[in-house]
Parts: sequence; structure tokens; C-alpha cells
Amino acid sequence: MRRPLVAANWKMHKNLKEAVAYTRQFAPLVANLSEVDVVLAPPFLALPALVDTLKREGHTRIQVAAQHSHAERHGAFTGEVSLGMLRASGVKLVLVGHSERRRLFHETDTGINEKTRAAIAEGIIPIVCVGETLEERESNKTFEVLKRQIRLGLAGLSPDQVAAIIVAYEPVWAIGTGHVATPKQANTVHTRLRQQLSAQFSLEAAQACRIIYGGSVKPSNAAELMTEPDIDGALVGGASLEPASFAEIVLASQQKTIEDV
Ligand code: 13P
Repeated sequence: MRRPLVAANWKMHKNLKEAVAYTRQFAPLVANLSEVDVVLAPPFLALPALVDTLKREGHTRIQVAAQHSHAERHGAFTGEVSLGMLRASGVKLVLVGHSERRRLFHETDTGINEKTRAAIAEGIIPIVCVGETLEERESNKTFEVLKRQIRLGLAGLSPDQVAAIIVAYEPVWAIGTGHVATPKQANTVHTRLRQQLSAQFSLEAAQACRIIYGGSVKPSNAAELMTEPDIDGALVGGASLEPASFAEIVLASQQKTIEDV
């Protein structure tokens, strides 16, 4: 059985103090939930402080992720942060190819593939984000687009590596809009993504790889999304900015494991 994973993507929100205060408030709320992997992805500046706070207060089950990284190990790349630097600071995961990075910072499938492979080489788990725009969905290109993003984004990975990464399906039209995909809509896509992983890598890799959903996930819709068999967790933006609201979403995913047993 795949273990649910719920990640908070704070995007460009929360300064250092706010990030630490949030973590102190949030961590005890999920301290008893042992069946879900919980991940916080703050802005770069707060990463080491979050790692330290969680360690100091004994919340070792909550992992810290970066929202971005550079694929090269070091060099003249002003403003960038390498995966090695992230690892040295205790960061365990990294978002790769978020639609905001694709759209606003011109990230390509090839660049996303480089970063994915670099993250794995560095021992950091990539959360590879894919998703179609509204225009692509309306012109029936959803699966064509997703297939390309997976084919190119994960090119060159071994089946074992695919089994250990996270794929996040985030339809662009659902991000920050309040228009959540219906559980059935999302599950249909997750199933197709898994078929693509199976064809490109192996059935075992496809069955082991966790595919999480992102796009307007809230406490009010999380439980229903989690009942779908191919939805293995959530990547949460806006609703992760309040500790209580994010904790409720984590709780909804824990429900998934209880029902599956
Ligand atoms: P929202 O939850 O605010 O729609 O954002 C989703 C997202 O982009 C998470 O990475």
C-alpha cells in the first residue's frame, strides 16, 4: 500500500519568524498521525530554521522541502541554490516543475528532467509537478500534455528511482482558483498517469510511485479526494498557510489509511 503524503507549498509567503511560529503551532497538531508523510515547503530563507525547529522539538516525522533548486552543483548562477546546499541544510525533498515555475520562469521539460535527475543523485526526493492548462483541457489535450511532461520530465530514470519519487498532478486551472477538480476527474488523470509510468518504466514502479493531487485542496474537499484509489495525498497551497487548516487536510489523508486497512 502506498503511504499518503501531504505537502504544504507556501509559495512566497511567510518570513522567517512567521515560518517558525507556524511550525511550532502546526507540528503538535499532527504529532499523533503516524500513517501520513507530512512535508512543509517554505521559502528558501526559512528552510534551515524549520529543519532545526522540528528536530529540536522532536517532530522528526515532518520533512522539509524546497520549492526550487538549480541542477548544477555550484558555479556562477547568481541567485540560485544547489541541491547539495539544500541537502547540507537537512532538506529532504524538492518541488520540481511547479506550473508557476513553468509559466512565470520559463522552465522546460528538459530543464525539469535535469533537476529531477540531479535531485535523485543528491539523495533528495523530487516532487515532480505536472498539469494541463484550461485551454489544453478544453481542446482535449490533457493526456497528450501530461504524457509529454512525464515522458520528458522523467526520461532516463530507472524503475527503482521512479518508485521512490513523488508525482504531483496539479491542473493549472485549479491552482489558486477555488475550482478544485472533482475527485473522479482527478482520479481518472492519476490512473492515466500511472498507466504512463507503467508503460515507460514498469508496473511495479507505477504501483509504488505516489501521485498526489494539488489545486484548491481545502479541509472541506480533502477527505473526498482522498477516498479515490489513485490519489495518494495532496500538495496544498493557500489552505496550507493556516496551521489548523493544513492539519485538517493531513487528518483527512490519515483517514485514507484507516479505511484501506
Ligand atoms: P492552491 O492550493 O492555492 O490552489 O495551490 C496549489 C498549488 O499550487 C500547490 O503547489
